[in-house]
Amino acid sequence: MMSERKVTAVDPTEMERQRVIMQRIKENNDIDYQRSGNNKSFHIITFGCQQNNADSERLKGMLMHMGYEETDNRNTADVIIINTCCVRENAELKLFGNIGALKNLKKDRPDMVIAVCGCMMEQEHAVEAIKKKYRHVDLVFGTHNLYKFPELLERSMNEKYTLIDIMNTDGIIVEDIPIKRDEKHKAWITIMYGCNNFCSYCIVPYVRGRERSRKPEDVVKEIEALAADGCKEVTLLGQNVNSYGKDLDNPVDFADLIRLVNNIDGIERIRFMTSHPKDISDKLITAMKDCRKVCEQLHLPFQAGSNKILKAMNRKYTKEEYLEKIQKVKAVMPDISLSTDVIVGFPGETDEDFEETLEIIREVEFDQAFMFIYSKRKGTPASEMDLQVNEDQKHKNFDKLVKLQNEVSKKLNDLYLGKIVEILVDGVSKKDSSKYTGRTRTGKVVNFSGEGDLTGKLVNVKITEIHSWFLNGEMSTNN
Ligand code: SAH
Ligand code: SF4
Ligand code: F3S
Repeated sequence: MMSERKVTAVDPTEMERQRVIMQRIKENNDIDYQRSGNNKSFHIITFGCQQNNADSERLKGMLMHMGYEETDNRNTADVIIINTCCVRENAELKLFGNIGALKNLKKDRPDMVIAVCGCMMEQEHAVEAIKKKYRHVDLVFGTHNLYKFPELLERSMNEKYTLIDIMNTDGIIVEDIPIKRDEKHKAWITIMYGCNNFCSYCIVPYVRGRERSRKPEDVVKEIEALAADGCKEVTLLGQNVNSYGKDLDNPVDFADLIRLVNNIDGIERIRFMTSHPKDISDKLITAMKDCRKVCEQLHLPFQAGSNKILKAMNRKYTKEEYLEKIQKVKAVMPDISLSTDVIVGFPGETDEDFEETLEIIREVEFDQAFMFIYSKRKGTPASEMDLQVNEDQKHKNFDKLVKLQNEVSKKLNDLYLGKIVEILVDGVSKKDSSKYTGRTRTGKVVNFSGEGDLTGKLVNVKITEIHSWFLNGEMSTNN
């Protein structure tokens, strides 16, 4: 059973201690630079979800404070970090391929540091595998002690064997870790860590620990500082943002939090993910409607259409309850773009059960669905369930689902033709440098031609062409 305990008080001196170490490493790197004329560099490979991306931004922030600069070239990097995911089996396979490929680099340049961190390192068998088979790894750490990275880096540089530091306690939040964000005009803001839901297929609660919320004043302070620096869009991040605040001494819920963020000058768009259907309250739906800056977009994973499967998944809602929440949201925000996650082939799923998944896809009409074939995760209740679905069946149904969803997405995209939409410009398109690229409030990617430096600006664009994964347009005279 999960614990009801509160978040352990954060030791305010902890980050101070790490700052002293960062300064020490920086001084050493500066001396090296004066000697060699070359800056030390780092390369981070990130797998998994936005939580891991947010963690990688913190690692980058810390490394830059220590005088390292980022490089795309792993062959020359002085520090390589692999930030791992273990939500599905293929994530694990990819990791070991990547670590193996670094062996020769370490042989040629023994002074470089190879570190592996993230969710998968919270699993004993994965750490054991590294200890036994991948001895060229210098440092292994987990998700709860990321803030200790400067100290661990310094220690690992002085140690011959793999340094392993996995913290068992998950009850702390350390504020003020430096963050290096890739973009200035939009930012991911972690508002809470961990998950208490224990969906029976999912490894996340075991590797990310229990839910703990940052204080609202810390979240607001961070966003105010970003807004002052030109940030226009924030995505509030957590495994289940709807249960934000339940563990705080002065409870503030997620609906209250988005109202606070909505009041911050300079911020123009608010998104959030992920929402759990069981926790979407009427209060939240009203706040979404009232807050102008909350975008018309909601990611609401339903996972499966059959009540039998939902129960076995421990999702704590029925198909009918899910559809009712969707109706409520659509009633107040008719233009909302919906997205979802779906799992195909959960143990015991029959063709009739799967048919109910297709029914939800047809009925709700999601703009986008992230579709996954069920992957057995050691240590989760579902991995012990009878009636694991055979691979052929899973793949056959998966293909059916993808085909149906593509039709729905296409149909919804077609509605954009000729419309004028507001775009927050991300920059020049990577595929076509004559075009800018950005997103609508509903999260659609739009490419368009435009004059001047538009990155980070909000512009109106008329949609002229529809593709499956993006739309094309031209700047509207209405700007
Ligand atoms: N907290 C979020 C996201 C969790 S992980 C949420 O609850 O929605 C992202 C997605 O991965 C999940 O929504 C689920 O669809 C999928 N997933 C998780 N465990 C899985 C497994 N064992 N096999 C296949 N897909 C899985
Ligand atoms: Fe996993 Fe469920 Fe938690 Fe999402 S809500 S992270 S699917 S246990
Ligand atoms: Fe993967 Fe960890 Fe996210 S397991 S999906 S990176 S929380």
